[in-house]
Amino acid sequence: MSISVDDRLLDSADAADELAEDARIGLARTPKSLPPRWFYDARGSELFEQITELPEYYPTRTEARILSDHAADIAAAAPVETVIELGSGSSTKTQLLLDAWQRGGTLRRIITVDVSTSALADAAVGLAARYPAVDLLPVRADFTRHLDGLAKRGRTAVVFLGSTIGNLDPAERASFFHGVRSALGEGDVLLLGTDLVKPVDILVPAYDDAAGVTAAFNLNVLRVLNRELDGDLPLEAFDHRAVWNPVDERIEMWLRATREIRARLGRIGLDVHFEAGEELLTEISSKFRRDGITAELAAAGLRLRHWWTDPEQLFALSLSD
Ligand code: SAH
Ligand code: AVI
Repeated sequence: MSISVDDRLLDSADAADELAEDARIGLARTPKSLPPRWFYDARGSELFEQITELPEYYPTRTEARILSDHAADIAAAAPVETVIELGSGSSTKTQLLLDAWQRGGTLRRIITVDVSTSALADAAVGLAARYPAVDLLPVRADFTRHLDGLAKRGRTAVVFLGSTIGNLDPAERASFFHGVRSALGEGDVLLLGTDLVKPVDILVPAYDDAAGVTAAFNLNVLRVLNRELDGDLPLEAFDHRAVWNPVDERIEMWLRATREIRARLGRIGLDVHFEAGEELLTEISSKFRRDGITAELAAAGLRLRHWWTDPEQLFALSLSD
């Protein structure tokens, strides 16, 4: 069975215009940078799923463990009717939560929100089969801009897993949390997954795995540019780099030109030049401390009510209202 994805907030034409704009702006900056949302075409979403299975990539299995230990506590603390999952991807871990909400008898509606149509459509098949009595609305939208447009009804939990919040910079996070705060009503909550600061010898391999899956994921953004903007960026001339930035407490993913590159994005008439050794910043993945995230939430008017973590304190889930 296929479930249709609602793309009224973000259709393919909007996405193409936004990619063109991000490429024009980001490739003219020093250093060059692109927003991480452009990793996630169908191939990028699939590569991300492969990353979640890697031995080095601890966040997914750690968050899943916290969810299986505490899903019942979360459902009891927030007996909601609507669940809005942002950056939902495959919604695999989410099912631990949805099962708990379903057992509590309150769940009526699931809204999954992602920029990746393929991820939304694939996940919807499993969700519809597992929760046949619940309304399911897969919505293609940008969680940094479209929170207002989501059709919440009754008490609602906004669920944002995977530490995707860490892919936003501090200003973007502040704006995101303000957006969430104004979308929440009485009795509504934000359930947030945050990856925690930890030793660099755990962090770097998680973003530079031995099998090279993260490298392929990183390079995928160049494939997206080439396909969508009629480009000729030579993928084989870039190296994947994952670097710990101790000042900002974040992993940075870069693509480094191994030689001078002159390429063109034909659809937007943009010439792109890389010096040998020049780097393109493709993603930040910020790591958090309890005090810092509590303060960021508070600055947007969100009160942290619960904090759950794993025995090794690698990852945390928080519930705020
Ligand atoms: N929540 C899942 C997936 C995390 S991967 C998990 O925890 O495993 C990040 C997801 O966010 C991807 O599915 C990607 O397509 C989506 N995403 C990235 N930027 C986005 C944006 N600006 N708006 C909506 N979805 C976005
Ligand atoms: C989706 N996001 C939280 C992942 C992360 O860990 O920052 C994306 C990712 N990038 C490289 N590996 C995984």
